[in-house]
Amino acid sequence: MKAGYYQFSPIFGDIDGNINRAISALSGADADLIVLPELFSTGYQFASKQEVESLSEEIPSGRTTQALAELSVRKNMYIVAGIAEKNGNNLYNSAVITGPDGYVGTYRKTHLFFEEKLWFSPGDTGFRIWQTPIGRIGVMVCFDWYFPESCRTLALRGAQVIAHPSNLVLPHCPDAMVTRCLENRVYAVTANRTGTESRGGKRPLKYIGSSQVTAFDGSILHRASRDDDELFVAEIDPANADLKELNQYNNLFADRRRDMYD
Ligand code: ACM
Repeated sequence: MKAGYYQFSPIFGDIDGNINRAISALSGADADLIVLPELFSTGYQFASKQEVESLSEEIPSGRTTQALAELSVRKNMYIVAGIAEKNGNNLYNSAVITGPDGYVGTYRKTHLFFEEKLWFSPGDTGFRIWQTPIGRIGVMVCFDWYFPESCRTLALRGAQVIAHPSNLVLPHCPDAMVTRCLENRVYAVTANRTGTESRGGKRPLKYIGSSQVTAFDGSILHRASRDDDELFVAEIDPANADLKELNQYNNLFADRRRDMYD
């Protein structure tokens, strides 16, 4: 599988411009799976719930999902991207997956970070795996990484590759993904954004870039710079994620002592 990310700095509120930037970057990509940042088409630092309401979209009928689905079909490529979802009266910080046949599915962020709790409902989809011809893809969004249960659940449900749209502001995630991948023996593609947002008189948010492809053995296949736009694709073998044996005595899943854990 050729899997990677497009790291860039979305412009707040410029949905068409952000979609077009992603489309032009991905049009030249030779990849089976590309991950885009969290909330890539709207930007992140909302000043009010009204802003989220006006910028969020229904899935799959909204323009962001439609554009990604068309691109996926044209490029014969899976895309996982973070978008603001409107569903009835609820708003979700969601990720959509699209593929060679168009829209595939939605994951709604489970663990909301900071002011996201003011705008979004906590995700109700649970952690989901999509069995595809290129491999089993699991999805989590940004701050979900902080809870080891997120990756563990995805791995236990069979994920080989975790697609991880992010808008990271804290510095720890890229290093932490080494452990998340090692302890679950899965690959992860963390797609972060760059740039700074300073809206509504709030404390500016500086995004850390440093998008990363992490392998099943904890090796970092690539880490992006902190500030530059970057499209990166790595060649990976998802079958490596099926081998949970560390040696002839230890199996990561079989050795779990569930009776000893809270
Ligand atoms: C985050 O969850 N966007 C930090």
